[in-house]
This record gives sequence, C-alpha cells and structure tokens, in this order.
Amino acid sequence: MPTPKHLAIIMDGNGRWAKARGRGRFYGHIRGARVARKIIEECARLKISYLTLFAFSTENWLRPPEEVQFLMTLLRHRLRRERKTLMENNIRVHCIGDLQRLPQDLQREIKSCIQETDKNTGLNLIFALSYGGRQEITQAVRDLCQRVKNGELEPSDIDEARLQTQLDSSFAPDPDLIIRTSGEMRLSNFYLWQAAYSEIFVTHKNWPEFTAEDLRESLQYFAQRERRFGRTGEQVAQVIT
Ligand code: FPP
Repeated sequence: MPTPKHLAIIMDGNGRWAKARGRGRFYGHIRGARVARKIIEECARLKISYLTLFAFSTENWLRPPEEVQFLMTLLRHRLRRERKTLMENNIRVHCIGDLQRLPQDLQREIKSCIQETDKNTGLNLIFALSYGGRQEITQAVRDLCQRVKNGELEPSDIDEARLQTQLDSSFAPDPDLIIRTSGEMRLSNFYLWQAAYSEIFVTHKNWPEFTAEDLRESLQYFAQRERRFGRTGEQVAQVIT
C-alpha cells in the first residue's frame, strides 16, 4: 500500500470541541496536544518520513492575548516534557515559520529541542509555528531579489526549483497528503506552494477526537488515489507497469 512520504495536518476544531462539551477553549487545546502526541507516535511507528503539524498560524496572532499566551506556554511545556519520547522514538524536530515572533523562552526551548534531536534518523517532525504560506513565499521572493541585487543571480536563473530552495521547508519533500479536521474545506494559508499536488483528506471530527484509526482511514484514502500530476490516467499506468 503506497504511504505518504510527507503527511501534513491542519489540526482544527479544538475550540468547538471544548465548547460543545461546555468547557473553555484552553481545555480543547490541552486535549488537542494529547492527540498530537498520539498521532506523532503513530506516524513514527508507521515509518512515515515527514510529518508537519500546523500548530500556530500567522493569523492566530490575532486571537485574544490570553489564548495566544496559553498556546505558547502549552507548546513550551510539551516540547520540554516530550523530549524523552522524541529521543526514544528516534524523532528529529524541525520548525518552520516566523520564529522570531515567538516568546524568547519558547524560542530557546525550540532551539534546544532541534539541537538535541538532530542526529535522530526516524520521523522528521516539523512544527509550523507562526507560519503562513503567503509570508513564506514573500520572504523567499525577497531573498531572491536581494541576491539578484547583489549580482549573485540573474532574473533568468529564477525558476521553480530555485524558489523552492528558498522556502523554510526546502529540506522536506512536498506533502503527499494533507489532513484537515473539523470539516472545513480550505488550506487557510498553509503550505500554499508545497500543496500544489497534495491529496487532501477532510474529516468532520474535531482535532481532539481524531484517533489513530482516523489516521489509518486517511492513509487508506490516500492509497486509493491515482496521483496523475497533470498526466492522463493511461500515462500514469504506463510509468507504473
Ligand atoms: C485549532 O483549533 C488549533 C490551534 C490553533 C492550535 C493547535 C494547537 C494544539 C493542537 C495544541 C498544541 C500542539 C502541540 C503539537 C503540542 P481552534 O482553536 O482553531 O478551534 P476552533 O476552530 O474550533 O476555534
């Protein structure tokens, strides 16, 4: 069964899940973090090479300051508490996004987590934090313009491959499968460049109720997709046979 080399997840619906149970949004995030841990371990077990978790978007900075602060503290605690689990599961941590905007203590935690896990050879776990696809592409274009201005590049040197190397996520292949929870059919500024040919699996379940079984269901959906990358079905069949 073909499995995605790179799986990316838009974890949505923590707030709605909590509200439906008469609880506050923070409770939803705590339960969401627990689910993230389970799914990370499951992906490591399934030998998926790359997993991106969209944990905090550029737009999430617009939430009430108490919620932003709560999410930052939650992320810092989880990164510290799960260090042992990451090492035991041979998981290497990466982060993409505008990390400079994060609180200093979270930046320090991220740096030390990246350093400690950088010899691990199993799952590459990518946290998208303060991440926005448009911002990432804009920054890449700005960097390329600077290199042209410095005389290092000609405008004609700029092609898709060159732009791709300037993206935060350039070390990872494009995601093969993107899962989104809570039923919304949109990308919400996530991996805009990288998602060009990604398969998309949307479930109505909110993130805190997403299970390893749901993950397996999404992988089965992926395995049944015919990925044509713009070719005809017949051409794809010829390449495979
Ligand atoms: C979406 O639910 C979730 C977030 C914005 C934050 C994601 C964070 C976590 C799952 C917790 C920390 C994660 C890790 C990996 C340690 P929402 O608040 O947008 O829900 P709503 O759409 O129902 O309001």
